Amino acid sequence: MTRTAIVSAMHEELAAVLALMPDERRVQAAGREFWQGHLHGHEVVAVLSRIGKVAAATTATVLIERFGVQRIVFTGVAGGLAPGVNVGDMVVAEHFLQHDLDVSPLFPRYEAPGYGTARFAADPAWTAALVQAATATLADLPHILTPATRDEFALHAPRLHRGLLISGDRFVATTAESRVLQQALPDALAVEMEGAAFAQVCRDYGVPLAVVRTISDRADDAAHVDFARFLQTVAARYSVATMDRLFRLLC
Ligand code: ADE
Repeated sequence: MTRTAIVSAMHEELAAVLALMPDERRVQAAGREFWQGHLHGHEVVAVLSRIGKVAAATTATVLIERFGVQRIVFTGVAGGLAPGVNVGDMVVAEHFLQHDLDVSPLFPRYEAPGYGTARFAADPAWTAALVQAATATLADLPHILTPATRDEFALHAPRLHRGLLISGDRFVATTAESRVLQQALPDALAVEMEGAAFAQVCRDYGVPLAVVRTISDRADDAAHVDFARFLQTVAARYSVATMDRLFRLLC
């Protein structure tokens, strides 16, 4: 059976996933708590990524080396960058890039030395399954969120976007910085702090990766306020609904 890692960015999301696992057992490694068990009959290891690229790279490496996971799905939140990527939308990554990696002039801006590219790919088949699950989550939103929550966040027609997700060791919380990123990387849909690190480690090991992010803020001057409110009420529900649907879909 394929052993799958479910990586959550936040405690609330992990707790919701653990509530779906009937038999989880805690194993400690690298100062982290890994939860081994089953989800809809599939062997899974659930863990928090911790924040930032280094923490994410360690988590990915331990999952692969120590727990022998054969694919990884990451669920979390991100700040929307491209026009039309709004709070409550979901982004499924097709590619990843580290927006704070710059070894120029030795290498082109953003390129990861030794790889000959700035962009790392998500696994197409695993990502297609995640797109199906995320689409089902958005279609079922009336069953997942209360009408009051949908009104509060204006979540009436949230959309699913697919494309470039960028990562860096910075919470982007000013309109000025968000504009700089949009101008430099016009096809970037959203920004977060871990995806590209997972993608690089998964590329090193040949382990399929799929990443879904719910948009919690617009990476602008209001980002810190929107982020906190969104986390408490919405993010974990989207995340667990998507994992529930993904693991039901798998054969
Ligand atoms: N995760 C969620 N929102 C974010 C932002 N604005 N910047 C970086 N990571 C995020």
